[in-house]
Amino acid sequence: MELKKFIAPFDAEEPLKYLEQIFGIEERLLEECQLNGSETDFNTDIVYLAYEDNTLLGMIHATIPKATPHIAGLSAMFTTPAARGKGLGNILFKAIVDEVSSHNVRLTVLGTCNPIAAKLYAKYGFAFCPGSNVMARFSSGNMVDFTNDYYTVPKGKITVSHGNQAMRIPIVPLVLQTNLPLILDINTKIFNSNTITQRSCMGLFPRYEELRKHGGDYFMAFDDSGTLGAAASVCRMDDGTFRGDFFSLPSFEYAIPEMLQKMEDDFSNVYFEIAKNDTVKKKHLEENGFKPIGDSYCKTDEFTINTVKYAR
Ligand SMILES: CC(C)(COP(=O)(O)OP(=O)(O)OC[C@H]1O[C@@H](n2cnc3c(N)ncnc32)[C@H](O)[C@@H]1OP(=O)(O)O)[C@@H](O)C(=O)NCCC(=O)NCCS
Repeated sequence: MELKKFIAPFDAEEPLKYLEQIFGIEERLLEECQLNGSETDFNTDIVYLAYEDNTLLGMIHATIPKATPHIAGLSAMFTTPAARGKGLGNILFKAIVDEVSSHNVRLTVLGTCNPIAAKLYAKYGFAFCPGSNVMARFSSGNMVDFTNDYYTVPKGKITVSHGNQAMRIPIVPLVLQTNLPLILDINTKIFNSNTITQRSCMGLFPRYEELRKHGGDYFMAFDDSGTLGAAASVCRMDDGTFRGDFFSLPSFEYAIPEMLQKMEDDFSNVYFEIAKNDTVKKKHLEENGFKPIGDSYCKTDEFTINTVKYAR
């Protein structure tokens, strides 16, 4: 057995076919846009492929954001059915953990709902983040720096801009923060993991991209150290109106007026819809000149949250 290392872009057609077979077309599309080189300005994508006599037996992929190289995301872990249970999963996973360690990554995240895989990841120091299907590993071995070290105080100036693929990995630990509102973002259907289990990991960022594909947009706020502390979105609704939403760590709140301004610059008639009990978003909207215009609700397959709409 031979492990080969690739850095995007490279010809990934063969592993992509396996990803489609094993996980479905969505996983293929999720990986394809990262491995075809279209994100090299934002992320370093490293892939290990395992071969026996030129036959592909397995894969693992690490994404290290260029602006945030202390965080990494792992994805696309598989071994082919005939190769399973023979130790290859362990070999591939150890290789990628060693790889990210050699880049001085401090926090690595991945998502799984496969208990066999979760047990394997736990052997290498990964543990489930409460309220989620996300597993995280800190190079310090310490979960405390998740909130205390990264997020308490912004390090340097906060820059608000249109969103891009720099957000792909940092959005994962951000949405797992517990000091956030009940509805983090109504447009991307991201809720507080204290209340509603966060089942997505690498699937979170594509929801923002989807909004842009359909005439909406998204925005992000990073500090100088590369911490993503706030995100905002605009969704083009079926009736042609634009609904905005935003969430922020308490330590990034002073970037919210700029975020709201950027949204209004691009979407002059944007309205907002927030949970009825969300006093923090209410305060920001009212301080920035928005007024309540009526009640509504946010419904998912599992639950309904009462909401209020705000507009100028
Ligand atoms: C998860 C997966 C990558 C593991 O790969 P693998 O090649 O079987 O891994 P290994 O042979 O190194 O086995 C890993 C561990 O799982 C255990 N294991 C493997 N198959 C098992 C099974 N069917 N039932 C219970 N345990 C199993 C092994 O005993 C081993 O435990 P150990 O590390 O304590 O010895 C592989 O099963 C797979 O591709 N699954 C489908 C895709 C998937 O779900 N990927 C994970 C996405 S997050």
